[in-house]
Amino acid sequence: MTKAQATVKKLQDPFYFLREVLGIKTLTAEQNQIIDSVFTNKYTGVRSSHNTGKTFICAGIVLAFVIPNKMSQAVTTAPTGRQVKDLLWAEINHLYHNAKYPLGGQMNLTEFKIKPKWGAVGITTEPGKEADSAVKFQGYHSGKILVVLDEAVGIANPIWEAIDGIASNEDAHILAIANPSTTVCSFYKKLKEPDWNELSISSLNHPNVTEKKEIIRGAVSYKYVKEKVGKWCDEAAEHDKALKTFDFEGKIYKPNSLFTWKVLGEFPEQATDTLLSFYDVEKASERELSETGDCYLGIDVARFGSDYSVFCIEKNRSFTFKPFYHFDTAQITGEAIKIIKEHKPKKVGVDCDGIGSGVYDNLNELKNNGGFDYDFELIEIHGGAEPLDLGQTEEFLNLRAQMFWTLRGEINAISLEPIEELQEGLPQIQYKYNSKGKIQIEAKEDFKKRLGRSSDYEDALVYCNFLKYMETEIKMFFIK
Ligand SMILES: Nc1ncnc2c1ncn2[C@@H]1O[C@H](COP(=O)(O)OP(=O)(O)OP(=O)(O)O)[C@@H](O)[C@H]1O
Ligand SMILES: [Mg+2]
Repeated sequence: MTKAQATVKKLQDPFYFLREVLGIKTLTAEQNQIIDSVFTNKYTGVRSSHNTGKTFICAGIVLAFVIPNKMSQAVTTAPTGRQVKDLLWAEINHLYHNAKYPLGGQMNLTEFKIKPKWGAVGITTEPGKEADSAVKFQGYHSGKILVVLDEAVGIANPIWEAIDGIASNEDAHILAIANPSTTVCSFYKKLKEPDWNELSISSLNHPNVTEKKEIIRGAVSYKYVKEKVGKWCDEAAEHDKALKTFDFEGKIYKPNSLFTWKVLGEFPEQATDTLLSFYDVEKASERELSETGDCYLGIDVARFGSDYSVFCIEKNRSFTFKPFYHFDTAQITGEAIKIIKEHKPKKVGVDCDGIGSGVYDNLNELKNNGGFDYDFELIEIHGGAEPLDLGQTEEFLNLRAQMFWTLRGEINAISLEPIEELQEGLPQIQYKYNSKGKIQIEAKEDFKKRLGRSSDYEDALVYCNFLKYMETEIKMFFIK
């Protein structure tokens, strides 16, 4: 072997490349496992908790794969353009420009070119563009190829099919990595296939957490994990595999669903009959929309004073929330008046199945007596009323079922204030078909039994979201 050949051989060792060329001295044990797996297996799937260096390691692997291997290609993707350009490719650019030696080739925002058919590219697989993106993927069918899927739970089926095509190539390596926020996705199914090597990253093992100090800058912190253990977990007397119990600082804990996927990197137990997935709700919480446009106000008044009353305010498909604990109807009315005067909603809907009717009556009286300086529609909401005719193909047991189902159809177009209760509760609302094939939402009491609190945020949201379809004049017919 000549000296030059020996150098190339050395560089082809990804650990050597990352350490000696890119100058990375701080890989975690899990990141090392991922590198090892990608270079020895065809399929590597990683489910991982938040902020543990997933995107960082994808970036390092792309450069360690492409640069030392002549005529190799890497294709990377994520469900949105922002995730491709501002996250993965920003990290690739950063590593490239901060390498210990000039690396050659031409680095752009989402493309790296050494020679024709030797380099890397980022493709977004945004909803609506799946078919186009799949065609781009089909262009990679020969030679040494790496496919990197960041945020893989959001990647659509046509892309996975195109990847199957690439994978038929002998020297193809696929790395899919994600926060395991839903089991309703191809990523979940792929990990179950025998030729996929499944790895996992839990924040509990991250050096920043085990050492209680920031060893890797910007990654998950001890403080974050400790806070979430306190907030999202209950102490348990003994270990129970089914409940995914874990040890933390000498005690045993049982995680809630959010902790399970955000901190432990495990798929949450989610019943198959849930209305929405954690992924849908997480994405809605991250989505930013302009807040100019019609305003609506939905009010869920606490039953018998034991829970929160929640106001949900919509502005142009962005929803924010105001909770009030132990307020009586007079106080809630006072808060509603303030909010109506400030935001001037076009429609205000009040849950009138319990003591909310008192709030409705107070507001109605004030409205009729000229207490507001503009006109709006004040709407009584009764979950037990007949559904409206909106041309939906499904049949609903009652208005409550229709309101929840409508949210399911619109979740990918709305923005939600990131409220932890909502992020945990909304994906756990269950539905079923009754004996007549009509959709029915679980009883409020069942939700409360499972989650230990009432569905106040969830109810206020679905009321508010549905107001655009409701009119004061619509006569409410009740289902007996
Ligand atoms: N081994 C490492 N050495 C140095 N910095 C690292 C390393 N791993 C991660 N980082 C840094 O830690 C931060 C978090 O990493 P990254 O964004 O890759 O995490 P992630 O798991 O993709 O997060 P998210 O769950 O938000 O997608 C980034 O600033 C990244 O540059
Ligand atoms: Mg990431």
